[in-house]
Amino acid sequence: MGHTQRCAPAPGGSAEDSIFADSNDRLRTRSIACLSCPGLSEGLCVTANERWLRDRKYNPLRACVDVINQFFYVPFIQMGQCVLEVGCGSRSPIREHCLKVKAHWEGVDIAPEYMGRRTIATRLESVERLSFPSEHFDLVIGSQTLEHWKETGCRPECGLYQVFRVTKVGGLVLLNVPIYLHGSREFIYEDYGRIARLFEPYAAHIDLVAFRKRHSPFAPLHFLARYAPLSKRSAYVLDIRCIRADHLVAPDVRPLRFARRWLRELMDHDADYLLFKALRKLRIGLIGR
Ligand SMILES: C[S@@+](CC[C@H](N)C(=O)[O-])C[C@H]1O[C@@H](n2cnc3c(N)ncnc32)[C@H](O)[C@@H]1O
Repeated sequence: MGHTQRCAPAPGGSAEDSIFADSNDRLRTRSIACLSCPGLSEGLCVTANERWLRDRKYNPLRACVDVINQFFYVPFIQMGQCVLEVGCGSRSPIREHCLKVKAHWEGVDIAPEYMGRRTIATRLESVERLSFPSEHFDLVIGSQTLEHWKETGCRPECGLYQVFRVTKVGGLVLLNVPIYLHGSREFIYEDYGRIARLFEPYAAHIDLVAFRKRHSPFAPLHFLARYAPLSKRSAYVLDIRCIRADHLVAPDVRPLRFARRWLRELMDHDADYLLFKALRKLRIGLIGR
């Protein structure tokens, strides 16, 4: 810790919800209640919530991700900047905004397709092997991708080293993940200590901001309702906002050894969670939900 950096509040954000506002700590955690979130007044979340109540097919956490992109990432993007989106998938409001304000957008994804549609990536590669030069981007953004890196054979610490390497010193790295939903164990179990430790070697400042954790006026989302240890936990989105540190040290870890995804998951999760997941898959296969 020790290195403190001050950064302007997010353009458009209220003073209370400012990003990296005066703080003497390198790590800060807080949550933005739905009641005070700009997404509520825009109606985005209300519509998402209604769709969820109607057919349970649309995950309302998606609305949080849209709000985060629109109100908390986009305002940082200025004309002429270089922006990288990691795990960009097949649609990106960030890319659309970059086109509009004449910022340069690059996207990487490990897969050529996401949800049956071609990814919009400009380079098909894993974050673990980013082919861009060091300190190239003003901003690196990634929505709902970090929690999946282990599944695709990438150690998060190696992917994060690459993400910070290609970011300019003092530039922003903005990654959001779901909590209590799916992916690597630190995200399923809301392990802030472990999440922060992943970022600490590369970040001068880390801000962990929870969206929909204080979910009123909406009902809590218990996606893991049948998994006893987490059955009462409401899923939410964690936005991880970092400032790139001056000096980076490459992680001293071995690459993931297991070729098969299920073997990697076996190493990452507890037996009870794996059993729960297997039973859930079986249930979906048999009765469709
Ligand atoms: C849940 S999708 C999110 C896509 C997009 N960001 C969005 O919000 O719609 C996760 C994406 O991360 C990508 N991904 C997973 N592991 C990756 C890795 N190691 N390197 C690059 N992309 C990865 C997947 O292929 C997928 O497109």
